[in-house]
Amino acid sequence: MNHKEPGKVTEAQIAVHWQEEQYFHPSEDFVAQANMTDKGIYDRFGLNNFPDCFHEYAELLSWYRRWDTTFDASDAPCWKWFVGGKINASYNCIDRHLDSNRNKAAIVFVPELEHEPHEVITYQELYVRVNETAALLRDFAGLKTGDRVTIHMPMSTDLPVVMLACARLGVIHSVVFGGFSGKACGERIADSGSSVLITTDGYYRNGKMLDHKVKADEAVKVVSEAGQIVEKVLVWRRYPDTYQSEAPMKPGRDFFMDEHLPEFRGVRVEPVELDADAPLFLMYTSGTTGRPKGCQHSIGGYLTYVAGTSKYVQDIHPEDVYWCMADIGWITGHSYIVYGPLALAATSVIYEGVPTFPDAGRPWRIAERLGVNIFHTAPTTVRMLRKFGPEEPKKYNFEFKHMTTVGEPIEPEVWRWYYDVIGKGKAAIVDTWWQTETGGFLCSTMPAIHSMKPGSAGPAMPGIHPVIYDEDGNTVAEGSGIAGNICIQNPWPGGFQTIWGDRNRYIKTYYEKYCKDSQSKDWRDWPYFPGDAATQSSDGYYRILGRVDDVINVAGHRLGTKELESACMTISDLAEAAVVPVTDDLKGKVPDVYVSLQPGVRESKDLEKAVVLAIETEIGKIARPKNVWIVPDMPKTRSGKIMRRVLASISNATDVGDITTLANPEVVEHIRDMVQS
Ligand code: PRX
Repeated sequence: MNHKEPGKVTEAQIAVHWQEEQYFHPSEDFVAQANMTDKGIYDRFGLNNFPDCFHEYAELLSWYRRWDTTFDASDAPCWKWFVGGKINASYNCIDRHLDSNRNKAAIVFVPELEHEPHEVITYQELYVRVNETAALLRDFAGLKTGDRVTIHMPMSTDLPVVMLACARLGVIHSVVFGGFSGKACGERIADSGSSVLITTDGYYRNGKMLDHKVKADEAVKVVSEAGQIVEKVLVWRRYPDTYQSEAPMKPGRDFFMDEHLPEFRGVRVEPVELDADAPLFLMYTSGTTGRPKGCQHSIGGYLTYVAGTSKYVQDIHPEDVYWCMADIGWITGHSYIVYGPLALAATSVIYEGVPTFPDAGRPWRIAERLGVNIFHTAPTTVRMLRKFGPEEPKKYNFEFKHMTTVGEPIEPEVWRWYYDVIGKGKAAIVDTWWQTETGGFLCSTMPAIHSMKPGSAGPAMPGIHPVIYDEDGNTVAEGSGIAGNICIQNPWPGGFQTIWGDRNRYIKTYYEKYCKDSQSKDWRDWPYFPGDAATQSSDGYYRILGRVDDVINVAGHRLGTKELESACMTISDLAEAAVVPVTDDLKGKVPDVYVSLQPGVRESKDLEKAVVLAIETEIGKIARPKNVWIVPDMPKTRSGKIMRRVLASISNATDVGDITTLANPEVVEHIRDMVQS
């Protein structure tokens, strides 16, 4: 399934030459207060204790009924966890905290406009809002257990409220990142079979009110073109009573949440006692083919895993103020803004806007004001804030005990800046490697147990047992520093259950390559292949080198090159499109687009603009390319395959390697002159 592409291997080869970094040790103060200091956890979670070791995490939750079977492989590789157990995620994140934490802040919402007040939502207030919203979803929108609902919303308090309201009813939510286009949202609605779309009128981004409801109209159109119907569009308003969008409300289809919620004042909805292995949510992510994949996560297994890892890796205590700057529309936000922290009765901060609005001091003012002591962000944000120099953070009085980096490899120099300047040489840092599919962390140091090593995620998490394979399925020697494809030998409760509606694609994408016996019901025959290359050094730490498939990691967000290429091909003047990753100082990687034109079409600036617009319309602004190159022809093999690795080398100004076997080697020189001049 996965071809050995020379362009991808080069990155691994370069990385092997990276020097070993020195260790940084967690401070005594941090260790003294940490939730997990017992190295014995790694023995308890040894493979010989699989699967019962995960009871230790599951017992952090409240179950209506304890499970009969911890792990069931009968439908391999669609694993089931905690079978026979009954649980509700909304109950675990809210109701059970009321006795001792009713008046504690569950969520603190920070609007982007600095003069607007914070909104503090206590667990009691969250309880009320979630109940009333659940009542509306059930009695007004007609949603019931097992239905899917698509939520296309920016960062707001309404987003976790509506997610938890769905969880209360057993309605499967599919949150689509707010920055995705209406078209991208519509495709996800159609794939999941949602008949209700929940959206917002508008939100602030860089100080400007963005019209969001227009995207809902586009999404509904795409769904109807696919032969399906969105029956109701529920619209939250950024300011109740005032509508921020130009898009008219369609009578009988579109409804304002703030107009209908009062009808449910005081209504309480009993959390539904759900099967632990029923789905909690879908999260769409990009893959190697054009269509995004709806990763289906379970209630019991997922919540178990995010509660355990939030407690021990994020080191969240009830008195902490925890701020994860990711967007809830991505898996990081689901696991480590909403479900993990709230399952532990933490205070989770939600920020509406961009980190540099109105200036690069904003995150530190928020941290100072709220007393944030656990901070969580992506390398892209750290790189961006670092550009403004070390003086900016020094102006503010904040102190983190713990910081996280997630989503992409962090360069050692950027790591050290994070540690010295933001962490003030005191905060423990965890570099957490994982994916949408995995629900929670796969590799990270345990912050009070291990020393940190810049640029390395660290050892595997308790209960996660990686192995590195070469292309032919041979095991790369442990601790050898040799690059290969990292796989996980065993299932774990946070792992997704399947791709919504496409079990074959689930097996093909994640298991086929290294499956030892496709008929087997034994998990040992089914190593999980996440699609990343990695090395393991002699201390057991893993360094993640990046994707080995056609996925570009832009600022920690996954985009499939095929998705971008199909977006370009909506322009009829184009003959072919090829998208390759180019290294970017801030975002890690960004797409470069190469297009060739239909006969008789002349190249023009307008065509370049049309390509950018097509990508923004089909996917969203996050996918905007760095460059659009109009080329006379694509470099091709004799069998007509576009050589993307050659284009990638040109974009990145690296050696194109041997091109003599190409059908049209002369075009390479031409393209190189154009791109590198
Ligand atoms: O390539 C890995 C990279 O991000 C991919 C997963 O992307 P996504 O599903 O969008 O989830 C992002 C947030 C978990 C992985 O396959 N990645 C994630 N974390 C790291 C990383 N690469 C290096 N270091 C990390 N800590």
